[in-house]
Amino acid sequence: MAYQMIEVEPVTPRIGAIIHGADLTRPVSDESFQDIHDAFMAHLVVFFRDQPMSPEQHLSLGRRLGELHIHPAAPYCHGNPALMKIHTDEHSRRNNGEGWHSDVSADVEPPMASILHLHQTPKHGGDTLFANMYEAYDALSEPVRELLGSLTALHASDYSGFYGDHAPQRESPRAEHPVVRTHPVTRRPALFVNGGFTRRILGLTRAESDSILQMLFDHVKNPNFHCRFQWQPHSVAMWDNRCTQHMAVWDYYPETRSGIRVTVKGDRPFR
Ligand code: SIN
Repeated sequence: MAYQMIEVEPVTPRIGAIIHGADLTRPVSDESFQDIHDAFMAHLVVFFRDQPMSPEQHLSLGRRLGELHIHPAAPYCHGNPALMKIHTDEHSRRNNGEGWHSDVSADVEPPMASILHLHQTPKHGGDTLFANMYEAYDALSEPVRELLGSLTALHASDYSGFYGDHAPQRESPRAEHPVVRTHPVTRRPALFVNGGFTRRILGLTRAESDSILQMLFDHVKNPNFHCRFQWQPHSVAMWDNRCTQHMAVWDYYPETRSGIRVTVKGDRPFR
């Protein structure tokens, strides 16, 4: 693909690209944003280095993609629930996003995109892994793809006590979604079940549902579908929750890793 305003350096042939030549601390022109969006659709997750954005600039970038999403329960910063706090330090009992997941897929209209800006990073480690759900779907055999194409799964969350004393913004969501969804922009089929939120496949016995979900959760772990991002202070990652999953590695205890996530609302998944 030809880009007019930016340079795009793929991280792997399958997923992830670093964008050079964009300054997110200044208003992003329509031409630059179009290039960024094209790269985002082509590479599924895009990364930027050295972007000391203010919270307002971060929110503006999110709004370029759509209406902002409010997490059901996570703590937030600067008094704005759209600025989700991502913070782990020596006092943390858990780390956000440690297992493979697509953000808040238990919402009836799950977020389309998330934009994470880290301000403080550990000296080593604290990477985020991303997986391509188009490739995960394409790599399945034809009979399994056919079976999954007809199935619907229940996604549910339980945030009670998850964020300590922080009072939730709303009830823990639950929703039914197709196991394979069509991406509304690229029209490509993507596997849409994840270990974080998908509880069972409807219409199957418990044993059938558990076995198929476990097979798919294991399938997503195939490194052929992955890229791995090493953060620096003021790196930014923008990922498409409709066709990726991610997990944050907590290998840096007791160091601190801290930043803000802005999340963008999506539409209801369809087949
Ligand atoms: C998340 O949004 O799941 C957290 C990702 C990260 O901290 O790398």
